[in-house]
Amino acid sequence: MLNNIEAAFKGFFACLQALKMYGSAHPMFLKSLDRSFEAFTEVLSLRQEMVIGIVGEELAFEKEILFDLAKFLRSVILYLKERNIERIAFYRGLNKDELSRFVSFIAGPKEYFKGDLQDALSQIGVEHIIIGKLKVDSQQGRDSFTLAQAELYDSSADVVGQALDRVLNSEKIDHQGLEFSLSSIMENFSSQRQEMLKLATLKRYDTETYMHMLNVSIFSMYFSSRLGFDQKDILSIGIAAMYHDIGKLFISRRILHKPGQLTDQEFGRMKSHTLLGAEIMLKYVHTLGILPVVVCFEHHLKYDSSGYPRSIFPRKQHIASLIVSICDVYDALSQRRGYKQDYSPDVVYGIMNRDKGSAFDPELLDKFFGIMGFWPVGSVVALSDGSIALVRGQNEADIRRPKIEIVFPADKKRTVDLVQDGSLNIERYLNPWKEGKDYLKLG
Ligand SMILES: [Fe+2]
Ligand SMILES: [Fe+2]
Repeated sequence: MLNNIEAAFKGFFACLQALKMYGSAHPMFLKSLDRSFEAFTEVLSLRQEMVIGIVGEELAFEKEILFDLAKFLRSVILYLKERNIERIAFYRGLNKDELSRFVSFIAGPKEYFKGDLQDALSQIGVEHIIIGKLKVDSQQGRDSFTLAQAELYDSSADVVGQALDRVLNSEKIDHQGLEFSLSSIMENFSSQRQEMLKLATLKRYDTETYMHMLNVSIFSMYFSSRLGFDQKDILSIGIAAMYHDIGKLFISRRILHKPGQLTDQEFGRMKSHTLLGAEIMLKYVHTLGILPVVVCFEHHLKYDSSGYPRSIFPRKQHIASLIVSICDVYDALSQRRGYKQDYSPDVVYGIMNRDKGSAFDPELLDKFFGIMGFWPVGSVVALSDGSIALVRGQNEADIRRPKIEIVFPADKKRTVDLVQDGSLNIERYLNPWKEGKDYLKLG
């Protein structure tokens, strides 16, 4: 029985993935709809209803936690949680058309999942499925929103961690599942882009290479979307970015985290992560395409053809490598790491601009800071009148004068667009782990 139930849910989620990837007219979708409906019919011929719940990050059927299934469907669980769905009940009498409409409903943008979901379902003629949503505590609306975002970031990190583990263990990769997870991370850019970026820039994890990979992937996808790439290319760049440093996981931690200068031999070993990575990703060329190989190989090559691995026939890097190399250095410099000083955004900007035209494509670098801003969203800054503010949004035309929210002193609280209000200036950046810590809570 449990097998049938698992098959039904797997089928249902495969439908959802196929719909998101290919659309409702595609044979892939129709095939998985047939399969899934067949499994549901079988289960519902034996029982009146079939209820599945999401408990934490696990899937549960009645009192049984479906660990195996949850592992397989992590990205979809996350997807449903983002839509406030923690319980789905399917009832006997369900027909295929209803199931298809339900899948299309679930595939809709997150913004649709706010009002009465059940009402919305009956309006599209779905009578044999009931979904339940989490109660949102309106008083803690802001906190729980941030919490949900943090959870999303953590779960995304899980997805990245798993995808990296699979490559490390030479296991198969579910390309569709990976694209699905990344597109779900991407969707957050459209609605809560600033919050996601804030997490990527402010949430620091020490030593975890894969956190770096997730951040670089997020930055690269966001950057390429703002550069006007289409969805498919953005996802390919996101996947390639996610694996850019995979070769590093084969290099001893002693070298990776050595506090002092590396010896020539150690540096040689360090540099080999590009070739190692390309070699590893070559094994996945049939599932993930050639871009991860290219980006692994090229991400330390510089715009002026210096860098490594040195090529006998210098040529221009792939645009994906140019994008990833900017996001890579940006994240590496912004991360607070044990072996490095904590660089403030103005220092990061200074370092990267010094290498404009040599390490980085100058136009691309300007565009990058135009989008990310000089002071990233979430930065705590001291103003010329002595008040303290949080950066809330960017002004591409004048990257040093973002939109801010004054949080201290209390009587000065307000939002200001520094491009429109020329009387105030940003004087300095407050470290969010030290002097800026207390002000972060005020935002
Ligand atoms: Fe690297
Ligand atoms: Fe890197």
